Amino acid sequence: MDIGVPKEAADTRVAATPKTVEGLLKLGYSVLVERGAGAAAAFDDQQYLDAGAQGVDAAAAWGADLVLTVNAPTPAQLDLVKRGAILFSFLFPRQNDGVADQYAARGITALSMDMVPRTSRAQALDALSAFANISGYRAVVEAAHAFGRFFTGQVTAAGKVPPARVLVAGTGVAGLAAIGAANAMGAVVSATDVRPETAEQVESMGAKFLHVASDQGVSSDGYAKEASADYAARAAALYAEQAPVTDIIITTAAIPGRPSPKLITADMVASMKNGSVIVDLAAQGGGNCELTRPGESYVTDNGVTIIGWTDLASRLPGQSSQLYGTNLVNALGLMTPEKDGVAVVDFDDEVIRTMTLSRDGEVTYPPPPVQVAAVPAPVQEAAKEVAVAPPKPPRPWWHQVLAVGLGSLAMIAALTFAPSGLVGLFGIFVVAVVVGYYVVWNVTHALHTPLMSVTNAISGIIIVGAMTQLASDNWTVKIIAFIAVLIASINVFGGFTVTARMLNMFRKA
Ligand code: NAI
Repeated sequence: MDIGVPKEAADTRVAATPKTVEGLLKLGYSVLVERGAGAAAAFDDQQYLDAGAQGVDAAAAWGADLVLTVNAPTPAQLDLVKRGAILFSFLFPRQNDGVADQYAARGITALSMDMVPRTSRAQALDALSAFANISGYRAVVEAAHAFGRFFTGQVTAAGKVPPARVLVAGTGVAGLAAIGAANAMGAVVSATDVRPETAEQVESMGAKFLHVASDQGVSSDGYAKEASADYAARAAALYAEQAPVTDIIITTAAIPGRPSPKLITADMVASMKNGSVIVDLAAQGGGNCELTRPGESYVTDNGVTIIGWTDLASRLPGQSSQLYGTNLVNALGLMTPEKDGVAVVDFDDEVIRTMTLSRDGEVTYPPPPVQVAAVPAPVQEAAKEVAVAPPKPPRPWWHQVLAVGLGSLAMIAALTFAPSGLVGLFGIFVVAVVVGYYVVWNVTHALHTPLMSVTNAISGIIIVGAMTQLASDNWTVKIIAFIAVLIASINVFGGFTVTARMLNMFRKA
């Protein structure tokens, strides 16, 4: 069978990249890429040819046995798809009534990439998550572009710069990606979600989770339910408190099959500082902010930029196409077990079944429900059994006696035969070792370098010694003592300056 990859009518993304073409060829298919299909994502025709695809016109790409696209075909494009073809695309049957009937009537087997269930087995096909991940990252890039300051705190010669404060509302795929990107850029990030069980993931990404103490329980299937009135009221109080002290708010709250919950009110926007930014990822579904204009970015009267782009994934077209293309190779991998270039729409496969809207002229939507077990099942006691290494046999008792005896003998010999001055110095040495050991091990590893520069202060001993020699009658001794004081002072004060600078780098606010 051959696979057609047409040029998208109004999108920068493309359903196959030169790299994913190689994956499709390995499954036994031949690949027909419309000329110019990857141009907007920076993949030129020659790269596709080098990967083993053929360059064709639109009619040939749409007329293939299998057609891969990002967006649903326009009516004119659909006319080019042949009966019996298999189409992979984002068709959004939940949002578009009758879409399955349309493909069934044309004898097209339609598989919708937004119907991939969120199960472990389907993860490699989960294009919605791939795009949400990219969008979360891009949301931070958009925010950084609109925000007139650094994200990271800095100590510069021209003064201290505080870090940006970022709040992420909704910590699903997009929210966690936004936390990761904002944290990597050095911002102080906090986040919240109606599902308290996401707190651990938020904290593992380096952000602070803001708990909303309410009657809202843990989700049983990993998806959010509509927030309770108690939760909504308490969350609103939290957002109202955070808005004036937050520089950037990124909202990603979504509940499957429901309109976007409104989290940020006009009053909260009015309380934000001039220059603050809101990026509303939920703009398409009506927005999490009351003032969001879907598809637009504008500045409010009090200087807050509200970004409502609905095409964030398309703003990183190369990355989006690569991940989406890989999702499609994985989907086709499930449908081509023999790697013989023949796709089988097998309804025994839960993932393929769930994605399929129509097959052989029949409407197959909606699919039977899939059990999504996102909340880990309670661990059985039996499964907790861990292989325990057999205990080491204890050392014979006389080992310890021998070690203590030999050590004591060595100490007595040293004290008896060493010069008396050395014994005193030895005592100081032992105390220094003990004190040094406890000081160093109680300092966190990241601060060992500043600690070393603090120890430069030990040069203070040289200063004290040299100062006693400054009163000497011998001019040579005087000059050497003066040089010693000078150099040791540079060491001491330089050490403290370096330490102060390094400690400031660790200080976030
Ligand atoms: P997701 O389902 O993984 O995450 C949504 C999160 O919102 C969940 O963790 C959920 O618990 C949380 N949530 C629901 N109600 C909430 C409330 N009242 N308060 C706080 N948190 C709440 O969804 P995903 O994949 O992360 O997508 C997030 C949003 O981004 C969706 O609306 C999606 O359509 C949108 N999106 C937007 C793009 C764009 O270009 N603007 C591109 C890709 C996704």
